[in-house]
Amino acid sequence: MASKDIFYITTPIYYVNDVPHIGHAYTTVAADVVARYQRLLGREVFFLTGTDEHGMKIEKTADQRGMTPQELVDEVVERFQHLWKVLNISHDDFIRTTEERHSRAVTAFFQKVQENGGIYLGTYEDWYCIPCETFWTANQLENGNCPECGRPAEKVKEKSYFFRMSHYREQLLAHIEEHPEFIQPASKRNEILSFIKEELRDLSISRTSFSWGIPVPGDEKHVIYVWFDALINYLTAAGYPDDQQRFSRLWPADIHLIGKDILRFHAVYWPTFLFAAGLPLPCKVFAHGWWTVEGEKMSKSRGNVVDPVVIADEYGVDPFRYFLLREVPFGLDGDFSRSAMKGRLNSDLANDLGNLFSRSISMIGKYRQGKIPLPDPTDQRYADFSILAAEIFAEVSVGMEDLAFSKVLQSIWKLVVKGNKFIDQQAPWALAKDDAKAKDLDQVLYCIAELLRLLAAYLLPFMPERSGEMIRQLGLTREHYSQGEDIFSWGKMPSGTLTERGPSLFPRLD
Ligand code: ME8
Ligand code: MG
Repeated sequence: MASKDIFYITTPIYYVNDVPHIGHAYTTVAADVVARYQRLLGREVFFLTGTDEHGMKIEKTADQRGMTPQELVDEVVERFQHLWKVLNISHDDFIRTTEERHSRAVTAFFQKVQENGGIYLGTYEDWYCIPCETFWTANQLENGNCPECGRPAEKVKEKSYFFRMSHYREQLLAHIEEHPEFIQPASKRNEILSFIKEELRDLSISRTSFSWGIPVPGDEKHVIYVWFDALINYLTAAGYPDDQQRFSRLWPADIHLIGKDILRFHAVYWPTFLFAAGLPLPCKVFAHGWWTVEGEKMSKSRGNVVDPVVIADEYGVDPFRYFLLREVPFGLDGDFSRSAMKGRLNSDLANDLGNLFSRSISMIGKYRQGKIPLPDPTDQRYADFSILAAEIFAEVSVGMEDLAFSKVLQSIWKLVVKGNKFIDQQAPWALAKDDAKAKDLDQVLYCIAELLRLLAAYLLPFMPERSGEMIRQLGLTREHYSQGEDIFSWGKMPSGTLTERGPSLFPRLD
């Protein structure tokens, strides 16, 4: 895939029939960490999120609530926008599928595929699951229920436009085989491969039994299937179809970040749509795992849906962001519990990181009036740290490339552990008692301060607000952290910088 100058990352566009929960927060925080990390490396980034506002499910929910679909989507979209503000999400654009720019893109895309012979009119006679907005055949159903969510499917027989998906089977198989990085993690790639190897049926892409959607160009009785509509959002926001110049700078996307529930749409449907329109495929589709809550599936009927705004309020935005990415290896399923959340906050953040930080700043204050001393770069300790810093940088780089957030945080924590151990071994309080050891103490304090400077750099994508506070207490500015990759190398802490003790970074919760 040609490398573009802009790094383009997306989240799913979420349905607005329901309010946001920690599952939505998870994908969006993960994408935010990637976007912030790329920006830190000096890359231009386009980070897209948004909402999926059409379809039968929205129409039905609005009806149940005695509202028009437009009223419903206008109300719920604010919940999502508010949440992203609370969680400090740094998206560059927020797309709503009810926007005019999007219906123009969908219409143009549909026409393009039609021109290329990818669409025909037929009759759909099978089953449909409204909550999943998914078509099923009779033998895919399990006791009449949707095999995905277990709720009843409904029988459908109507005239429908079909997308000639079967036609692209070989091309898709070849693409997946030639691009092992296209679908990740690898276990998911294998699932998709075996799904495609079985059979790829043509896909119904229009409905006539409801109206909340984008009409089929030239046949307005039909509404375009919500997934056909939704996936195109990734193109709309990149400037398709009008702004060719912008589009060619942004497309293909570098990463579509999604949950495993919607992998088939992104790794089978979407690529074949793009083939049919003659457009390049995204570089990577990464499907992460599923969160349960206190060991149970999250659902409205169970009443255990966790509101991320409440969690952020109880534990802090950054501890919540940290927890989401540290607790579960990205790609695997995980469980959210308040005790696990509190455990991470108290041990990793308050004890390990927070303590290291506050005792370091306070020693620099006490022994050097807050001023970062001059180091001796020929000192063994300095040299050892510079090797460790290079090792961590290599681990973090590879880990971020693989979206292995939990592993990356573990690598970063090696610095935390090393810092605490170093202080205990070097015992600055003892050195401070002996005037002959002043140079030694300078060396030790410099190394500790430089370690903190590095930690703030590595943590900026994960905990932007708390890292900002670290930077402030270190006497540095964001300016210092805008020099690209350089900020990750050892020895960049300017001597003479005036640190300033501040409130504890992560107060313990009891
Ligand atoms: O599927 N654990 O929207 P959606 C982890 N509109 N992630 C979860 C989760 C959980 N328990 N629950 C939700 C749609 N997610 C379509 C997408 S894209 C062109 C159209 C996250 O509101 C996860 O990212 O049902 C999942 O893929 C997404 O929310 C589904 O959101
Ligand atoms: Mg869903």
